[in-house]
Amino acid sequence: MESKTIANLSHAVKVYDKRTVLNDVSLSVNSGQILGIIGPSGSGKTTSIKCLLGMEKLNSGQATILNTTMPNRKVLGRIGYMGQSDALYEHLSAYENLVFFGNLIGLKGKQLETMIDENLQLVKLSAFKNKLVHTFSGGMKRRLSLAITLLGNPELIILDEPTVGIDPSLRKDIWEQLRTLSLQGKGVIVTTHVMDEAEKCDLVGLIIDGKLFEIGTPVALKEKFNATSIEEVFLKAEVDNHA
Ligand SMILES: Nc1ncnc2c1ncn2[C@@H]1O[C@H](COP(=O)(O)OP(=O)(O)O)[C@@H](O)[C@H]1O
Ligand SMILES: [Mg+2]
Repeated sequence: MESKTIANLSHAVKVYDKRTVLNDVSLSVNSGQILGIIGPSGSGKTTSIKCLLGMEKLNSGQATILNTTMPNRKVLGRIGYMGQSDALYEHLSAYENLVFFGNLIGLKGKQLETMIDENLQLVKLSAFKNKLVHTFSGGMKRRLSLAITLLGNPELIILDEPTVGIDPSLRKDIWEQLRTLSLQGKGVIVTTHVMDEAEKCDLVGLIIDGKLFEIGTPVALKEKFNATSIEEVFLKAEVDNHA
């Protein structure tokens, strides 16, 4: 399969209240790739994603998705984005939420029903289809958000800390699914705090204090830092950054 650039953030600079929170961050994901963004809390992972999507305006640099400068409404329809906090209708059922968000992206009828069933199965919520969301645990809400994100069969999938509150066996299922999606030629971008997840990515970008400290394959990063795990890379990078 031909691999093409799906999303590209180039020399991104973002300033909030006179504070530079992104300082020359460049990231890129190709079709068929999973890009992991790791870094301490407050380092700029979410801001990088929001700038890439055009949800936040860059002070300088460029954000391009599917060959289009962001923000762009048309391209948004080809992206599945799951933010760090769940945006669900608590007083609707899981099914009603899926119908609502499916309709928003133009899905209806049999096609929508099929996508809903497939995605509920994927996140193991089929049995809770008609339960109201306000009765769900945090992990169940996260899983429903993921199902909604994947509804439109997006070409680019961007997930901001998708596995928070999700138990290990389901986390494994979700990562297997992300790999399946990447093998179908989609681009996947995931932020995570969980280091064993970083090892499952094709490329890992390490952001510290708004700077892209390092980017590479998990193997290359481990070699470079003479570490046996990405967790160790991360710890060594943090020490280096403060040196
Ligand atoms: N809307 C905003 N206004 C001002 N500062 C912000 C805003 N959003 C994020 N920040 C700041 O930018 C920095 C990076 O935040 P964020 O990208 O959310 O980090 P991460 O996702 O890595 O935890 C933090 O210091 C945060 O406080
Ligand atoms: Mg964040």
